[in-house]
Amino acid sequence: MAQIIDGKKISSQIKEELKEKVSVMKQEGKTICLAVIQVGDDPASSVYVGNKKKACAYIGIESLSYELPADTTQEKLLALIAELNGRDDVNGILVQLPVPAHIDENAVIRAIDPGKDVDGFHPQNVGALCIGQRGFVSCTPAGIIQLLKRSGIEIAGKECVVIGRSNIVGKPMALLLLRENGTVTVTHSKTKDLREVTRRADILIAAVGKPGMITREYVKEGAVVIDVGIHRNENNKLCGDVDYDDVAPVCSAITPVPGGVGPMTIAMLMLNLVESAALVR
Ligand code: GUN
Repeated sequence: MAQIIDGKKISSQIKEELKEKVSVMKQEGKTICLAVIQVGDDPASSVYVGNKKKACAYIGIESLSYELPADTTQEKLLALIAELNGRDDVNGILVQLPVPAHIDENAVIRAIDPGKDVDGFHPQNVGALCIGQRGFVSCTPAGIIQLLKRSGIEIAGKECVVIGRSNIVGKPMALLLLRENGTVTVTHSKTKDLREVTRRADILIAAVGKPGMITREYVKEGAVVIDVGIHRNENNKLCGDVDYDDVAPVCSAITPVPGGVGPMTIAMLMLNLVESAALVR
């Protein structure tokens, strides 16, 4: 039977470790503060933002909340970011995505001081990851590396296949697996004979965005399967990109949805914040 990789448990361990670190930092007079900006009131974004603020409070990190109306101009948003860039008491700045269509997302990402870009989305941080230099790393793929390492799964020398090439997950995932000495293939919607490629994987990362698409025909026996998807099925139940019941019997380890990759994203955001504060002061 496959090992179930428990993201809830591993993320809790990381948060406990960070809580202790933050308490020591506080004794040394260092405070940590995240500024969270949400433009508009998309319900899913509000849930994510609420969870991020809750995690900050639990660990002992301060958070500043900016809830801006949906018709906020780009100039106004950029002016707020500039103000936060200049504040010594703010370590991290996060603009919840997506932003409304009249705002240029790339301009927003570029406006954030790379040293405060705890999401790891700024081109400078992406570039640093690409050439193996220090910088913030996108939280979901960083969390997947933690899941693998803390579950005793070796990456070096393994065939790693990533399905999906988004800027937030697929591309940084591929770069991180490469940094860990995996042999990496990135697949996408134009890949020919996808199953042929995914069946080579010792470690398969599914970030496709299609509920239940990855069935056992895509998976080599004994592979490790990481499911990045999060959807609601026809019964309103949470499910991933992987057909869990079909795939679990043939793989050696698998992440469930919910309780796999999801909880790791916020844990890694907290880790990025603590690291940024430790570096700056
Ligand atoms: N929207 C969906 N995921 C994320 C994330 O990780 N960070 C931000 N800022 N927005 C998101």
